[in-house]
Amino acid sequence: MLRVLANLLIILSLTWTWAAATVVASPENEKISPLASQGRVLFQHYCAACHGVSGDGDGYNAEQLDKEPAELSDLKFISKKKDSQIYRVIKFGGQGVKKSHLMPVFGHTLSEEEIWSLVAYVRYLADDKDHPVTLPDNTPKTRPARASIPHDPLNVFSDWYSKNGRDASLIDQGEKLFRKKKSCFACHQLEDEGGLLGPDLSRAGFSYTPEWIFTWIGNPQRIKPQSKMPNLGLDNEECQAITVFLASLSGEGIKKKWGAYLISPGNPVKGKKLFFDSEGKANCGKCHTVSGQGGKVGPQLSFVGTSRTPAFLLESILNPKAVITSGYSSVLILTKKGKFITGVKRNEDDSSIDLMDKEGNTLHISKDDIKKYKTQKISIMPGNFKDILTQDDVRHLLAYLATLKISN
Ligand code: HEC
Ligand code: HEC
Ligand code: HEC
Repeated sequence: MLRVLANLLIILSLTWTWAAATVVASPENEKISPLASQGRVLFQHYCAACHGVSGDGDGYNAEQLDKEPAELSDLKFISKKKDSQIYRVIKFGGQGVKKSHLMPVFGHTLSEEEIWSLVAYVRYLADDKDHPVTLPDNTPKTRPARASIPHDPLNVFSDWYSKNGRDASLIDQGEKLFRKKKSCFACHQLEDEGGLLGPDLSRAGFSYTPEWIFTWIGNPQRIKPQSKMPNLGLDNEECQAITVFLASLSGEGIKKKWGAYLISPGNPVKGKKLFFDSEGKANCGKCHTVSGQGGKVGPQLSFVGTSRTPAFLLESILNPKAVITSGYSSVLILTKKGKFITGVKRNEDDSSIDLMDKEGNTLHISKDDIKKYKTQKISIMPGNFKDILTQDDVRHLLAYLATLKISN
């Protein structure tokens, strides 16, 4: 047993570099104001990946960017700015204030009060005591209305797409928006270039239906209120062009021999039974929630019939590690006491990591107790379904997943 662990450790350290657990000390100044402390939570969620947890400009996503994220902890840099300048770049994004498009726009996602709390937190990060930030009177507390920009309903979009989905000039236009105008490329990779915050979109046309890309990018918060992808305020035409571009990236598709699984349709009722049967061989519901029922180890699948293509769903079942759903990567932790822990990383902040293990237990681990930790390229989802499920079982499951749709 010990030898196995030792070998595992050797393999791991050869294949991957470990991240050391660093506990970030807060600046040595006095108490943080309530406004800035509201901003701190938002900053960790939306900004730290680029600007770094302490605002030093060294977030894990920073080196992917052609333009360095500003060093917000730099007192000289921040003290020269007016509150309104800091406010405007957060609200309107880099492009809105003639800076890099790689700084995203947050004014379609956060409330005015939240944006001001971020201004206060940026001052705090720089230890800028000469410019105390107070909330202007009557600042709205509510987030922007969910569907602030009108977009075509799905059926209208589908008709439009069937006529224009392969238009070469639209593909070009969408690519330009993606790479040069909107912040997409700051967070998403295409062919090994671009940011790491969201999923790699090199095979977007294989993974997502056009309907889903269109719906999601028009307003991510409508589908997932806590998403780290901000609403970028795209209008209908921009959403159409970007969708056409992304849908054109189809990759290689699935293995030829898997084609047989997709030929004849399965039975959704049998599929549902397999999915939720806790004594059965599939037992997908142990880890996945559909419409409120099921476990939380894996992503909820309530809309996968709208969002994912049948080929992608098949691949997810037969070879889960091919694509790890964003936010569900598994991590391996080595504690200072020499214990190994693995699970899905749910959250990470300055001082701790939250994990969920295979059985669905939540573990809160203080970085003080961690020696090293590492994101792994494996899935917590079992990799042996292609051996234990028959082709018919898989067809039934696919038929059931296909029924899980979002309404307009
Ligand atoms: C995807 C990466 C990314 C994310 C996420 C991000 N930023 Fe930025 N930010 C940048 C880049 C790149 C710049 C540099 C822009 C330039 O100088 O042209 C920048 C610049 C800034 C600046 C300085 C602007 C100036 O006047 O020079 C501030 C302030 C800022 N960001 C705040 C934030 C806040 C607050 C958040 C979270 C709500 C955030 N950023 C999220 C990439 C990012
Ligand atoms: C600040 C980072 C950020 C920016 C900017 C950003 N995204 Fe995302 N995106 C994400 C994250 C994070 C996810 C994962 C979604 C989640 O689970 O919350 C995501 C998910 C997606 C998905 C997949 C949705 C799904 O169902 O999993 C698509 C498609 C997408 N983004 C397209 C875009 C496009 C197009 C743009 C530019 C218009 C863009 N993104 C800008 C961070 C970003
Ligand atoms: C032990 C827990 C576990 C079980 C059991 C399990 N899954 Fe998963 N599943 C996960 C995790 C974790 C992920 C996210 C990581 C990944 O992409 O591999 C995932 C991802 C997926 C995805 C991709 C979702 C997306 O939007 O990207 C699909 C589809 C899926 N599972 C279907 C199934 C089906 C069908 C079954 C039953 C045959 C099943 N899962 C059984 C844990 C599980």
